[in-house]
Amino acid sequence: MTDTTKSATLTIGDKTYELPIYSPTAGPDVVDIRKLYGTAGVFTYDPGFTSTASCDSTITFIDGDKGILLHRGYPIDQLAEKSHYLEVCYLLMNGELPDAAALEDFETRITRHTMVHEQMHNFFRGFRRDAHPMATMVGVVGAMSAFYHDSTDINDEWQREVAAMRLIAKVPTIAAMAYKYSIGQPFVYPRNDLDYASNFLHMCFSVPAEEYHVDPILSRAMDRIFTLHADHEQNASTSTVRLASSSGANPFACIAAGIACLWGPAHGGANQACLEMLKEIGTPDRIPEFIGRAKDKNDPFRLMGFGHRVYKNFDPRATVMKQSADEVLDLLGIEDNPILQVAKELERQALEDPYFADKKLFPNVDFYSGIILEAMGFPTSMFTPIFAVSRTVGWVSQWKEMIADPQNKIGRPRQLYLGETQRDYVDIEKR
Ligand code: SDX
Repeated sequence: MTDTTKSATLTIGDKTYELPIYSPTAGPDVVDIRKLYGTAGVFTYDPGFTSTASCDSTITFIDGDKGILLHRGYPIDQLAEKSHYLEVCYLLMNGELPDAAALEDFETRITRHTMVHEQMHNFFRGFRRDAHPMATMVGVVGAMSAFYHDSTDINDEWQREVAAMRLIAKVPTIAAMAYKYSIGQPFVYPRNDLDYASNFLHMCFSVPAEEYHVDPILSRAMDRIFTLHADHEQNASTSTVRLASSSGANPFACIAAGIACLWGPAHGGANQACLEMLKEIGTPDRIPEFIGRAKDKNDPFRLMGFGHRVYKNFDPRATVMKQSADEVLDLLGIEDNPILQVAKELERQALEDPYFADKKLFPNVDFYSGIILEAMGFPTSMFTPIFAVSRTVGWVSQWKEMIADPQNKIGRPRQLYLGETQRDYVDIEKR
């Protein structure tokens, strides 16, 4: 916490209260209200936490007005162009870019943890084949706590490190197994001679009947998608992981909670919902109809992949993703992909419409990612699992930071109670 002599004065009735103000290294100042209830007897009120800082952090910084996203100070567009996912994982987990020896050691350790306990295969058999892969992932990742007992003591720094490495290494294997199970194909074991992204593609698309060769174009695109989704400050699923972890729950259960939260269409589920929306629109001539629905207060329909709680400018990840969509489709020889044409025309028309401009609604990370993933051969049901694979490093990095924070205590918000005041029980014959 940066020390400061600044403070805010709050007047309630005939009393005034001095609240300390802390200044960050970047972004808005914060007003410390921790003593407010004890001194003034009032709560603050912020449903959805639109103006609330829940913690200190040094991992990711977002400037929503300027469309800036930094991971440990490095801009996301530079990391997407010059780095790769496991190097970004090291950066998020450790705070600095690794030297060559540290990177090789990190990548070797992750590679050596990609296989799951053989008995975990049995969990999948309990699910229907048509279960959504996110349902399977919530169940199987949570069940990791039933296998890896030697990395569940959160008070042991070494066990925290092992749990983090196991999660980063094994969640892609579990996601690939969920996909294989959903299409009735046999599980594919991870290979130690493949890089992280290539291994994931191999586990998803390889079949026993023939040799699977990873296309370097797809591998690069996969790695870039992983990099672009790795962490994003205190978003809903990361806040879920932090809140679950604040009770002292084991890391596998907490990451399973994060996966459950990410599933929602307002959050990570938007990539699947967005592609389904683009397909429903189908052709550019139907775009005005859907823009009209998105603007209609009486219609619950929203443009999926548009808008963001923090970004009131372009989501920098969407900019990179849009460039990547053009490159990947071009390299795959997918000319004039009709869905990409609809997406680009929808973006153009929406950004020219005062409704979206006035509300500062821009494309977010989910607007273009589905187009790339579908071109790579993934069904829409695998879009959010892939987001979960990538975001696991963000969740575990934020979890490690929180556990190590001496201010860490159980999260326990209060409420504005609007229910009945105390009343006596009424016997049923008198109701
Ligand atoms: C992710 O937080 C993160 O960092 C998340 C994420 C990450 O990396 O972890 O970036 C990933 O979740 C990206 C967001 C993916 N979700 C979608 O694309 C779903 C569509 N978007 C919306 O549901 C919405 O924009 C949210 C949920 C993303 C943000 O909602 P907010 O901040 O709560 O804003 P709001 O719902 O209060 O909307 C403000 C206004 C409202 O109109 P008014 O009531 O003021 O008249 O804008 C309107 C909304 O109706 N609005 C939209 C809209 N998004 C907001 N109108 C039409 N289409 C939309 N997409």
